[in-house]
Formats: sequence, structure tokens, C-alpha cells
Amino acid sequence: MAEAFNDLSLPAEKAERYRTLAEEIASVLDGEPNLTARMATVTSMLANSFEHYFWTGFYLVDPARPRELVVGPYQGTLGCLRIAFGRGVCGTAAETGLTQLVADVHAFPGHIACDGRSQSEIVVPVFDGAGTLMGVFDVDSDQPAAFDLVDQQGLEDILSKLFT
Ligand code: SME
Repeated sequence: MAEAFNDLSLPAEKAERYRTLAEEIASVLDGEPNLTARMATVTSMLANSFEHYFWTGFYLVDPARPRELVVGPYQGTLGCLRIAFGRGVCGTAAETGLTQLVADVHAFPGHIACDGRSQSEIVVPVFDGAGTLMGVFDVDSDQPAAFDLVDQQGLEDILSKLFT
């Protein structure tokens, strides 16, 4: 299945596409315990499956600085290396443990512009099997209001099964 994977083989309808991707991702990652491999793989598969994704990747809690996120596996233009809890959209998701769906990043207090082309974004907190925050998954778009509840549901579903 992994060999045949590409966006052309996926359904056009967005909710269905997320559901099919969830199955493909589970199949590709089956038996692979390495966290970097799991994060890099899910980032690649998601980034290459949706036109509206511009920057896609993880910010992880730094074990040496537990109130700080440090960039993890990602696809896209150069991302900021570190984000403090409570700062910008990623820091707010980390602080609250809640998904942030932002239609206009310029209207979000403290938004961090790693790339000026970013217009909207969704950030989903990621937890381990014990319920401890591991970090967040950030998707930015260069189109305004690019994400909706279908993206939220699809991403939360995929990410909630990744590290548990
Ligand atoms: N937009 C994010 C920062 C990370 S990047 O854009 C890759 C934020 O405000 O949290």
C-alpha cells in the first residue's frame, strides 16, 4: 500500500479523503515505533494530499525547557525554531490543549509570522498514550480561511491515534 500512495489515488471529497488517509497512514506506520519516523511520515503524507496546505509539521515540547516548543519534522518553507507556550497560535494550542482554527492569522493576537505568505492556520495539540502533551501539529495555508471543521475532525482523528 505504501508504494502506491499518492494524492491522485485519494478521494476528491475532503472528509472522505481524510478518512482514507487515516487508513493509509495507519497501514504505513504499522509496526514502526520510532517517533521521528512516525512524525516525518504523517507530515509527508498529509502535506502531499491537500492543495490548501502550505506549511505542515510538528512543534514539540522541549524536554529541557518544558514551557517551550521546538520545531520537529515539517514540510514547507523555513519555520521558526522555537515558540513559547502561550505565544501565537501554536503556543496557544500548547497552553490550552485545544485545537486552534484561525481563519485570519493577522487578526490573531501575537501571531508569529514565520513566512509572510501564511494567511490562515489550524493547530492541533498532540498527546501521548498517558495523556501528556507531546507538542502540536501546525498546518498553515497561503489562502485565507482555508480550514474548516472537516479539517479539524480529520486531523484530530489522525493525530489522536498516532502516539497512543
Ligand atoms: N504560525 C505559527 C508559527 C509557526 S509557523 O508559521 C511555521 C504561530 O503563530 O503559531
